[in-house]
Amino acid sequence: MPKEKILIVDDEPNIRLTLVEALQGWGYDPIEAGTIAAGRDLFESEQPLAVLQDVNLPDGSGIDALREYKTRQPQAVVIMITGNVQLEDTIAALRGGAYDFISKPIRLNELQVTIRNGLEASKLRREVVTLRRERAQQFNFDQIIGQSFAMMEMLRLAKKVAASEASSVLLQGASGTGKDLIAKAIHYGSSRADHPFIAINCAAIPGTLLESELFGHERGAFTDAKARKEGLFEQAQGGTLFLDEIGELEVGLQAKLLRVLEEGKFRRVGGLKDLPLDVRVIAASNRDLKSESEAGHFRLDLYYRLSVIQIDLPPLCDRGDDVLLLANYYISQFNQRLRKRVRGLEPDVIEIFRRYPWPGNVRELRNVIERVMILEDSDFITTAWLPRDLIKDERPKPKEEFYAAAMPVASVPLAISPQGRFVLPESGIELEEVELSFVRQAMERSGGNQTRAAELLGISRDQLRYRLKKIEDIQATD
Ligand SMILES: Nc1ncnc2c1ncn2[C@@H]1O[C@H](COP(=O)(O)OP(=O)(O)O)[C@@H](O)[C@H]1O
Ligand SMILES: [Mg+2]
Repeated sequence: MPKEKILIVDDEPNIRLTLVEALQGWGYDPIEAGTIAAGRDLFESEQPLAVLQDVNLPDGSGIDALREYKTRQPQAVVIMITGNVQLEDTIAALRGGAYDFISKPIRLNELQVTIRNGLEASKLRREVVTLRRERAQQFNFDQIIGQSFAMMEMLRLAKKVAASEASSVLLQGASGTGKDLIAKAIHYGSSRADHPFIAINCAAIPGTLLESELFGHERGAFTDAKARKEGLFEQAQGGTLFLDEIGELEVGLQAKLLRVLEEGKFRRVGGLKDLPLDVRVIAASNRDLKSESEAGHFRLDLYYRLSVIQIDLPPLCDRGDDVLLLANYYISQFNQRLRKRVRGLEPDVIEIFRRYPWPGNVRELRNVIERVMILEDSDFITTAWLPRDLIKDERPKPKEEFYAAAMPVASVPLAISPQGRFVLPESGIELEEVELSFVRQAMERSGGNQTRAAELLGISRDQLRYRLKKIEDIQATD
């Protein structure tokens, strides 16, 4: 590993010499400058991780240099060094983002610890920035699959809310409809994205514990409170707190939550003063909070407050052929994870998927695909390994619509409407192959009747014949 570069900027040659030797001894790679100007050049060309910056130099102020470093490289660790400490300088330096302040004569032990801690902190910060960026991509609205009207409407609202100043949001939807996913997309799609997203399941923690978990406590607030503890609200400062299963929140805590939402302030358990708070609360419930409150199980005032911005997640069975888009998405996911090469669903599986009510919603669908892909050996998913529940469901079929079935799976699947219009995926896919796969399916579905197959595809019989010929040619060369 290359040694970490540290820039020394001081006009006294003796000090530079001492520091260079010390830094080398500690395993760093020191570079030095005697003026602000030279320091600036080296900072630019060498990109050191840390700077030891003298405050008073003949050609300018170290504080100004500090500000410049921090604007160019916010993660740089700048340690200020000064002969006679003046309060104003200290304040200015810390405001300017200095990591620490060290006075001359320099105590080398102290400096060594400060540098080590500073570099460590900066490394962690860089990691956090990278992770946040990755997460922001992972939980992007674009990753949410759904082109049904119900989903488009829901996503339109969710995006609007993300960009808004709304301090609370209520997500309502059955289990597995994507409440977690939407909560994260709202957070990472908002101006709060650089601050924490913290999630807690209200049903998982008993009431008394939950209170100090959420609001923190002062030392001695109760017998076990040996030290002050920061609550989740505080930890989420500037960001988003996701309260899952809000319907399970104890009545006393509901009142406290309402106060936080209305006043933007909170109090630690055992605390005497209110602390200001800037956190967006996203609450989620898989029960109908309105009827819960009307039945007296949930505070009506809190429900009214939360429902100012309410987003309802449609159940999967109301999302039309999104179920097939999702199936194809999970097939490509599990292809990667399980090193398989499943290419799609057999037509009868498609029909079953469309008919089945999916009480466990997207989560259930994902589990079904995972199960089948572990067990299935053929290229296309058949009914062989489908869970019983799916097969025995005997509800009437929905009206016929033509859809991408046995086709190569791309990361975003492809659909075709009854008029034969393509909905193209973003990533590449062999158009011809897809086209021919549609032709095959249409022929299968029409029981070999060319007129009917052409109708299904929305093309003329001649066009169909031309394509059938192509299939024959391909089969001949195979
Ligand atoms: N529209 C969607 N697109 C892609 N994945 C989804 C979608 N909706 C849900 N999922 C996935 O389904 C699973 C269940 O979603 P989740 O957000 O945990 O549901 P809930 O919190 O409502 O129970 C998760 O793995 C989630 O990533
Ligand atoms: Mg959930």
